[in-house]
Amino acid sequence: MQTTVRKAVFPVAGLGTRFLPATKASPKEMLPVVDKPLIQYAADEAVQAGIKELIFVTGRTKRSIEDHFDKAYELEAELEKANKQKMLEIAREVLPADVACIFIRQSQPMGLGHAVLCAKPAVGDEPFAVLLADDLIDGGQHGCLRQMVDVYNHYNSGVVAVQPVPPTETDKYGIVAVKSIEERIGKVQTIVEKPKPDEAPSNLAVVGRYILPGAIMDILTNTSRGAGGEIQLTDAIATLLDQQQVLAYEFQGKRYDCGSKLGYLEATVELALQHPELADGFRKYLSGLEL
Ligand code: G1P
Repeated sequence: MQTTVRKAVFPVAGLGTRFLPATKASPKEMLPVVDKPLIQYAADEAVQAGIKELIFVTGRTKRSIEDHFDKAYELEAELEKANKQKMLEIAREVLPADVACIFIRQSQPMGLGHAVLCAKPAVGDEPFAVLLADDLIDGGQHGCLRQMVDVYNHYNSGVVAVQPVPPTETDKYGIVAVKSIEERIGKVQTIVEKPKPDEAPSNLAVVGRYILPGAIMDILTNTSRGAGGEIQLTDAIATLLDQQQVLAYEFQGKRYDCGSKLGYLEATVELALQHPELADGFRKYLSGLEL
């Protein structure tokens, strides 16, 4: 029986050490790209894909993520008093009214697989999406997760988003080998977490978007620590392949690796150049720079 994808898990308990000291006291997911925090780009992408329940797996120092998605009474009262309607709308419209948030604490950082497993009580046995906010994906009108939901609805099987990476960078990603089914879609044959370039089955890397069947939760329960001593989602997906097919989908759009400073800067510049209020002034500013 096919069920629609209604729930999305956002693992946000990571320490964000690559952005220290910015992330010493505030979450990396709250770093703004132009005028929205990273986590809101991911939440917006999920909502656009029809997701109705956002499940955040959080940790210490992550309270501002909860506050961000909550009602801001004092701020709204002040904006109302000052008759700042536009700002009021922006503050209120962080999420549509029919979308709910659930927050679950991951008390020990034991890897992505463990973070996803922490969401089990909220996910149940439904298919669900996983979005890593570090990977900001600009899919235009048709976001990456929306595209993946279309693939899921057509094939009724798990889907991981992939893109080719330079062969020297396979050790930063989960890497898949696929058997092509149609343009952009392949059946995953193997999946390995962060293989060295000479051991990688291909240069097709999993980026931070997944649609997984509920069955992955039981597999995660029995998955032992893998690469980096962590419970890896990749290893659980490798086990899932013995039970059912998983598809790799080469999404349309551009991914920014906002877990790295360079990727974060690229996202900031490129999204500012698309921003209705900023594009013209910012383009002028950039073209005047002596590089
Ligand atoms: C995680 C996953 C990896 C995936 C990557 C995408 O790694 O473990 O398989 O390719 O996200 O961003 P991380 O970047 O958290 O080390």
